[in-house]
Amino acid sequence: EKGGYATFMEKEIFDQPHAVGDTLLGRTDETGRLVLDELRISEEQLGNVDRITVVACGTAAYAGMVAKYAIEHWTRIPVEVALAHEFRYSDPIVNERSLVVSISQSGETMDTLMAVKHARELGALTISVCNTHGSTIPRESDAVLYTHAGPEIAVASTKAFLAQITACYVLGLYLAQLRGGAFADDAQAVMKELHEVPAKIEDLLGTMDRVREIARFMADTRSVLFLGRNVGFPVAMEGALKLKELAYIHAEGFAAGELKHGPIALIEPGLPVFVVVPGPDSPHDLHKKVVSNIQEIRARGARTIVIAQEGDEDVVPFADEVIRVPQTSPLLQPLLTVVPLQVFALHLSTAKGLDVDQPRNLAKSVTVE
Ligand code: F6R
Repeated sequence: EKGGYATFMEKEIFDQPHAVGDTLLGRTDETGRLVLDELRISEEQLGNVDRITVVACGTAAYAGMVAKYAIEHWTRIPVEVALAHEFRYSDPIVNERSLVVSISQSGETMDTLMAVKHARELGALTISVCNTHGSTIPRESDAVLYTHAGPEIAVASTKAFLAQITACYVLGLYLAQLRGGAFADDAQAVMKELHEVPAKIEDLLGTMDRVREIARFMADTRSVLFLGRNVGFPVAMEGALKLKELAYIHAEGFAAGELKHGPIALIEPGLPVFVVVPGPDSPHDLHKKVVSNIQEIRARGARTIVIAQEGDEDVVPFADEVIRVPQTSPLLQPLLTVVPLQVFALHLSTAKGLDVDQPRNLAKSVTVE
């Protein structure tokens, strides 16, 4: 049942081209227009939405953070991301014009379920992005957009994460299409590019040997940092979470722009730092800014492991290791950049002789608050 792989997690990582491809399947018509009849929410009702709140926990919340950057850019609708357990016991600004999108692989996470119920009480429209048919959260929501990752067995989430991001892109692009005009034209172009991503993930997965070697050399490492910006920021957080869960190593992900506001004090000779570099075509000179962050930490002795697009030569002088990912447009990059971080955590866990599929203290679905 592991299909020739040593662990479920490895199998699930290698399943990711399908997780993304299947989540896109059937969601456009022959002209490339997005069709989400399955939502069974009228266009009028969706058109009425003036703010979106994403509620989720853990990895699913990082998918929500990626969604925020993308949906705000594509639709100009404000998007907030709340950890479900924080949302539930705060005084959230949510009303009849709010759309609350929950993200959950299992559909059974109690914290997320409570947040959805709370949102409904406040009058919000609720959509569940979920991987498990017939589970509780979709049943308690107004509508569901299923991710088609297939069953995820390993406790740590991998393919469900990519499928969640994909489903959120689809939802965001659909909302953009509803807005019409230039929004709709842009949505079609992005959707076309999104369809090319599964093949790129496949190519990327074929180049992970060096990542495995790096992980093997690092079996004794005690602490690892992850830096990213914009959509690379949640990717950095997810890279750190995978390492905590699977290899029991202290790991922290943060926004690269925060470095000088504190975390740079942590940099010492030999400290491994992964940097998720925005593509050179990213807006606001983000690429240049992150390259200069790499330069700063390298000058202080960090061991820099850089995730950069093919063809990006600017990173080379400051990188101890460069891990290449295929080119795609800036907002879609998380579907590629997170893959080497998952593979790294998998192999570091294996190198330490740990149980990759069943890390200590964790359960696949957290059904208590
Ligand atoms: C991380 C992980 C958890 C889950 C979180 C939410 O690898 O698996 O952080 O993402 O517990 O679970 P779901 O998506 O089932 O609501």
